[in-house]
Amino acid sequence: MVNDRAGGLRDALSAIEEIDELEIWGRVAAVRGLLIEIAGPVSAMSVGGAVEIAIDRGTVLAEVIGFAGERALAMPFGSLEGVRRGCAARVRSAASGVRPCEAWLGRVVDALGRPVDGKGPLPQGPTLYPFRRDPPPAHSRQRVGGPLDLGVRAINTFLTTCRGQRMGIFAGSGVGKSVLLSMLARHTSADIAVIGLVGERGREVQEFLQDDLGEEGLARSVVVVATSDEPALMRRNAAYLTLALSEFFRDAGASVLTMMDSVTRFAMAQRDIGLAVGEPPTAKGYTPTVFSELPRLLERAGPGTWEGTVTGIFTVLVEGDDHNEPVADAVRGILDGHIVMERAIAERGRYPAINILKSVSRTMPRSCDPAHWPTVVRARQVLATYADMEELIRLGAYRAGSSAEVDEAIRLFPALDAFLAQSKEESTSIGEGYARLTNILSNSSGV
Ligand SMILES: Nc1ncnc2c1ncn2[C@@H]1O[C@H](COP(=O)(O)OP(=O)(O)OP(=O)(O)O)[C@@H](O)[C@H]1O
Ligand SMILES: [Mg+2]
Repeated sequence: MVNDRAGGLRDALSAIEEIDELEIWGRVAAVRGLLIEIAGPVSAMSVGGAVEIAIDRGTVLAEVIGFAGERALAMPFGSLEGVRRGCAARVRSAASGVRPCEAWLGRVVDALGRPVDGKGPLPQGPTLYPFRRDPPPAHSRQRVGGPLDLGVRAINTFLTTCRGQRMGIFAGSGVGKSVLLSMLARHTSADIAVIGLVGERGREVQEFLQDDLGEEGLARSVVVVATSDEPALMRRNAAYLTLALSEFFRDAGASVLTMMDSVTRFAMAQRDIGLAVGEPPTAKGYTPTVFSELPRLLERAGPGTWEGTVTGIFTVLVEGDDHNEPVADAVRGILDGHIVMERAIAERGRYPAINILKSVSRTMPRSCDPAHWPTVVRARQVLATYADMEELIRLGAYRAGSSAEVDEAIRLFPALDAFLAQSKEESTSIGEGYARLTNILSNSSGV
C-alpha cells in the first residue's frame, strides 16, 4: 500500500517534470524535399529536440536536425502531407524516450514505442529511457562475462560469444541473416531478446514474427519495427529504441540478447538525414555523421555497470558481397567479432551459411573452455586444409595418398559440414556441440 502510494507519487512527479514551463511556438516557413524550415524562436530549439507541427487533422512530429541562418531545419517522423507554410510548430522540451516495463515482453512496437500488434495499449513503467544515450563510461563498465549459449552449433563452438560481447553478421542479401537471427532469438539461454527490424520489407515482418520467431520466441522478446517505407527518422529511431529497451532490461539485471537487422539500414537512414541537411557525401555517398553515429549506437551494447549485460548481434548487408564496403568496414572495426555468411555455401544448401574460416570471435580463446580449445584449433585446421585443396579435389586433380593431412581432411569434411548445418527448429547447447565435434575428430584415424 505504502509502496503503491510512493510509486504513484513518483509517477506524478516525473510527469510534472515533463510538462513544459513555457509554450514556445515557431512557424513553418518553407518545406523543401523532406526538410521543414521553421522560423521563430530558433534559439529555444536544439539539434535532436522535438517539434510538433499543427496541421488541420492533428499534428506531425518532427525532429530538429540542424540550423541554417535564422531557421531551424526539421525532419518529420511521419508523412508531410497537410503541412503548410505558416503552420504553428510547438517546441517540445521534454527529452524524448519511452517508459518501458516488464509487460512489454511479447509485444511489437514501432520506432516511437507505440504498439503495432493490435494487442491493446502498452503499460508504462516509472522511468524514462531516452532514445539517445551515451554508452556507460568505459572505466565503470563490467568486463565481458562468461559464454552465452546461443543454441547454434557453428557459433557456440567456433565463435563462442560472451555475455556483453558485440558480434556482426556479414552477408549479402538473401543468404540467411534473418533466419539465423530468429534461431538465436529462439534458442539462446539469455533471459530476454530485444529485436530491432530496421528498414525491413513490410512483407517480411509478419513472416519473421509468425514463421521464424514463433509464439514461444516472441513471449520473451520485444520487437521494434520500422519498415523500409517509413521516413528516415523512424528507421533511425527504431535502432535507438532497440538499444533503449535493451538498456531497460539490462538495468533490471537481465542478460539481454539484442539483435538488429540491419545496421546497414540504420546507416542508410542516417545518410538520408545527413544529405537532407546538407552534409557532404563521402564514402559511397555516406555522410561523415554516419561514421560518428555508428560507434555511438553500437557501443551502447555491452556489459553494464552492474549485473545485467547486453549482448549485441548486428547484421550488416554487404552489397554485391563486397566485404570491404564502408559500413561493413566501420562496423567490423567497432565490434568484438564477425560472423561471415557466404552465398556459395547457401547455394549448395548448407544453412546457416557461415564460413568459419573467415569468421572470428575476439574473445576466443579466453572464452573457450581450455579442455575444448585444442578441438577447435584442430577442426579449424581440417577445414582450412580442405578449403585450400577444394578446387583440386573437385576437379579430381588430387591423388589420394599424396598427403596424409589432405586425406584426413577429405575424410572428415562431410561430417564437419553436417555438424555446421542446422535446421531452424534445432537447438544445440555449448556442451553438446563440443561433444559432437570431439566425436567427429576422434574418428580421424579412419577407423
Ligand atoms: N537455416 C535455414 N534452413 C533452411 N533454409 C534457410 C535457412 N536459413 C535461410 N534459409 C533460406 O534462405 C532464404 C533467405 O533467408 P533470409 O531471409 O534469412 O536471408 P537474409 O539474408 O535475411 O535476406 P535479406 O538480405 O533479403 O534480408 C530463406 O527464405 C530460406 O529459404
Ligand atoms: Mg533479412
